[in-house]
Order: sequence, then structure tokens, then C-alpha cells
Amino acid sequence: TKREDVRNVAIIAHVDHGKTTLVDGLLKQSGVFRENQEVQERVMDSNDIERERGITILSKNTAVFYKGTKINIIDTPGHADFGGEVERVLKMVNGVILLVDAFEGAMPQTKFVLKKALELDLKVIVCINKIDRPEARPNEVVDEVLELLMDLDASDEQLDCPFLYASAKRGHAMLDLNDTSSDMTPLFDAILKYIPAPEGDPDAGTQLLISTIDYNEYVGRIGVGKVDNGKIAVNQEVMLMNHHDPDKKKKVKISKLYEFDGLNKIEVREATVGSIVAISGIPDIHIGDTLCDLENPEPIPFQKISEPTISMNFMVNDSPLAGQEGKFVTSRHIRDRLFRELNTDVSLRVEETDSADCFKVSGRGELHLSVLIENMRREGYEFAVSKAEVIYHTDERGKLLEPIELAYVDVPEEFSGTVIQRLSERKGELQGMSLGSDGSSRLEFSIPARGLIGFRGNFLTMTKGTGIINTIFDEYAPYKGDIQYRKQGSLIAFESGESVTYGLFAAQQRGTLFIGPGERVYGGMVIGQNGKAEDIELNVCKTKHLTNTRSSSADEALTLTPPKILSLEEALEFIDKDELLEVTPKSLRIRKRQLD
Ligand code: GTP
Repeated sequence: TKREDVRNVAIIAHVDHGKTTLVDGLLKQSGVFRENQEVQERVMDSNDIERERGITILSKNTAVFYKGTKINIIDTPGHADFGGEVERVLKMVNGVILLVDAFEGAMPQTKFVLKKALELDLKVIVCINKIDRPEARPNEVVDEVLELLMDLDASDEQLDCPFLYASAKRGHAMLDLNDTSSDMTPLFDAILKYIPAPEGDPDAGTQLLISTIDYNEYVGRIGVGKVDNGKIAVNQEVMLMNHHDPDKKKKVKISKLYEFDGLNKIEVREATVGSIVAISGIPDIHIGDTLCDLENPEPIPFQKISEPTISMNFMVNDSPLAGQEGKFVTSRHIRDRLFRELNTDVSLRVEETDSADCFKVSGRGELHLSVLIENMRREGYEFAVSKAEVIYHTDERGKLLEPIELAYVDVPEEFSGTVIQRLSERKGELQGMSLGSDGSSRLEFSIPARGLIGFRGNFLTMTKGTGIINTIFDEYAPYKGDIQYRKQGSLIAFESGESVTYGLFAAQQRGTLFIGPGERVYGGMVIGQNGKAEDIELNVCKTKHLTNTRSSSADEALTLTPPKILSLEEALEFIDKDELLEVTPKSLRIRKRQLD
């Protein structure tokens, strides 16, 4: 049976292409904002950091009403897939809105999400946004998007949807560029007409797959998912099961059930096939669990949650510089904060180490961990982090396997040669290359994750800040051999201690920062572009001169106050002679400082 009164749709958009503005527009026009309710400027991104970095990290749900139909709108992660989240979210919907900036065109990073959507047989409504921009080139962008859809083998059926044009900012959508529509009606209508209603058997036993987990201090864990079959009701007893974990089988009683309404969750007594619901009151509910019928329990298969590929140590920062700003934190605070993060982030892993002041945190790539680091710093936590390390596996025969990522690079053509060269040095293999109409090159690489560690900064420097790189985990594959980095080294002094993370980010602009577990950090070594020294080894040293790189983000740190790059001779100035172990024309070794 089809639920004609429901549509479930996800939005796929590149960062800044206007997803939040579009959803705001739909919400306003569907009358969700009642008279006295305050209209926030951007309603979907509740998380500060998302606002600042423009990344939608967690998937969020909104529901709007149009012509008696409830449209559940699900936000997809716009930047990278932190552990299979994209697929889980897309499993709740029957179609997607692909939102594309009328000037920028389809960006390669959306390709991954779009590909997943097409593989899952979802319908695609293309919406070309920001047509009010003076430099908009909607017709060309339509051609580009069509080409992309063809490339990804979209079926005729999937393409049987109109291309819409919109100015989310002005609150209107149009069927063609001469359309005089002044509101979102064409988009609402297209959703109703082209996105299939959810289907399922309302009389079958309950089956509800938990797709995401929300966490709230007062009610604890909240499972979110779509009712696939049957119905779910308050006071109903169901079996909590997991396809990948046959031992998990537990009778639970539904105590609180919610549906989405605008930006809120409202309590309901019952929900049936096709409804997207939230359930609280089950403390050990997890992503991938199915709530099943008691009599005939059948868990729904789902793609296994992806394992972390990279880890870093988070260490309590007890340097004298700590605590000047932000609050004083102990390992206990950091521990609690990290473990709390596990409530909502399934692809994160936190482990205690031999030292009470050091935690090993593993996630899906550098970006995943750097989002967490920035979030925590913003909340006032002080800690140092080690360099990222990839997590290796072995196959049955004992062969070493390493994580391989796909890297999508967008650069002005003049830089493509350099980028190809640098990524090749890091064992990257060029898989595809195309030229955009605006003179930019789009490159696609397959590259070991370790080759990408610290690369972003290099990349920004080598493309003069104009390049875009997006990476996503692809697979574990046999170890590709050692990377011979071109170690053109130079030493920079940058503020550490209180600002260690910034130091790390700044260092990542050019190379490597060494911080050992439990060590204090007073400086670091980076591999610069123009320096001469090679193989500088510097673990912990003391800098006399702190270059101020304090700012809210790495990129800013570099543009505002470029760290001072020193020659080997100059670097020696900053190092206590009694800490110096060895100096050769090419290298410099320093004794680890004894901590007191
Ligand atoms: P993230 O959540 O950061 O991924 O971004 P988003 O896709 O939600 O984009 P958002 O709605 O935040 O819009 C990004 C910027 O584009 C904002 O400055 C908007 O004001 C602007 N914008 C959105 N829609 C339009 C539009 O139709 N026309 C113009 N000119 N600007 C728009």
C-alpha cells in the first residue's frame, strides 16, 4: 500500500549552494512559522560550527505540509561521508532534490551522494538555485548536470522529472526561466507529482530500521527511522534486533514516539508505514537496529557501519600557556566529552591508553576528526593532538592492507600539473580528468589515506588558495609501498600550548607536526615549500619566539599571520644548545625535553 499523504525526500547540495535557504523558504511557505514564532535566519544548521564552516554534519529532519501531504525533508551530509551516513539517510526516502548553484554548477563532491541515490533507485528533481545571481549561467549548468546524470547511469525513469530553477533567497521556484512564479509552488508540486509515495504493508508485522541517532541530555538516545512495514504505537512491545549482531534480541516497550513537524518533534500515539519517526526511551538503541514484530521478528539488512580509518591521540594540555583562555580541563572532562560524542557518531571510536591523560580517537579521515577537534575547542576544551595515523588491517593471509580514499580535486588549470605531480608522489593514481567550461580542471584520484595526511595545507599553498579538495574513503587495499616525501624542510615557530590545535592546523598547511603522547609542545617542524634542509627531526623543542597564528581556523591563521619560516641556521637560534643532539647540513636532531 502507498501512503499518498506522505513524501520522503532528501536534499543533496554542495556546501553553500543554498540548501538551508531553500528549506527555510519551504517552511515559511508551508505556514510552519506561526505568527509569534521567531524566524531564525538559517533554521537547519543548529550547530555553531556548521554555521561557520558551512558544513552540514549531522543529518536533520524537517517536515512541511502541502495540499494535505506531509513532506519529510532530510538533510544529507554535504561534505564527506563520515561512515556510511549518506546511504543510511537515503534509505529513508524515495527521491532527492539535487540543488545546484546556477553559477558554480554541479560540484564533484555531490557526485558521491548523487551516485548513491541513483544506485538506490531514487528519483531526482534537479533544482538550479541562485538564478538571481548576476553571473548565473543556468542553461549551461543544466547541460552539465544532465551530463553528470548520464555519466552516473541515471535511468530514463529516474530522469522523468522536470529541471526547476529557483532563487531560494527570494523564495521562488520556476518550471522554466520565463515562468513568473513568485513562490515555491512549482517545487512543492514537483515533489508531490514525481517523488513516489512511500510503500509498505500496513497489516504486516512491525519493521522499523533505525537510520540515525539523536541525543538529548534529558531523554537520552533517540532513534530515527522510517516505518517500513506495519505500524508502531506507544505502549507497543517490540523486539529490538540487529541484522549484523544475531545476539542482540531484546523485548522493549515503546514509551515515547514522535513525528517531525516543521523544525520540531511532536509526540504522537501511533505511526504507520512510510512515516519517519523518532523514538526515545530505549537506552541501548543503535543505528542499524530494527524494531520488529514480537511474534515474527525479522531484522532489516543494512550496510555495515564503516570502520574508522585514521586515529589521533588527544592529550590533556598542561603547558603553562594553557588556561589563559578557555576553561581549565582535566582528562576527566575530555574523557566525558569524547564518550558523549559516541552517542551520536557511530563511526567514531574512543579508546583509553596507558596514560590517563591521553585518549586515542579514531574516525573516518582527517576532516572527520578535525570537525570534532574544532567543536571541542570552541566549547573551551584545551588539549593537544598528535599527528593523524592511518589504521592498517591485514587480510587472511596476513598481508598488510591500508585505507584508500578517492580525492576529488577542483583547481584552475594552471595548477593541475603541480597537483598531479604532488599527489602522484604520495602514491595517488589519477583516475579521471575533465575541463570545466570556466577553465578549471577536475581531477579524480585514488590515493592511500596516509598520502593525504597533512596534504590539505600544501594543496592550498600550491593552488594559492583557489583549489578545492574533497576526499572520501573507498576501500582497504594492499599496502602501496613507502612514500618518499620530498623533504624540503624548514622550521617554523608558531604558538603552541594554548593553541596547539591551531599549531597543528597551521603545520598541516605545509607538512608535519610531531607531538608525542603526554609531551608538551612548544614548537614543531613543518616541511616547507622553499626550505633547503632535509630530514629535520624535531620532537619537542622550545621556541623563544612565538609567532602569533592564533585565529579561528587554519586557513585564516595562515592568511592573517603567516607563520615565520626559518632557515636551518635561523632555527638553531631558537633551540637550547643543551637540547641539541646532532646538526648536519641536512638535519637537526633535538633531545626530547624532560617534563617537570
Ligand atoms: P551549508 O549548510 O553550509 O551546506 O550551506 P547551504 O547549502 O545550506 O547554503 P545556505 O542556504 O546557507 O546558502 C549559502 C549562501 O548562499 C548564503 O549566503 C545564502 O544567502 C546564499 N543563497 C542561498 N540561496 C540563494 C539564492 O537563491 N540566490 C542568491 N543570490 N544567494 C543565495
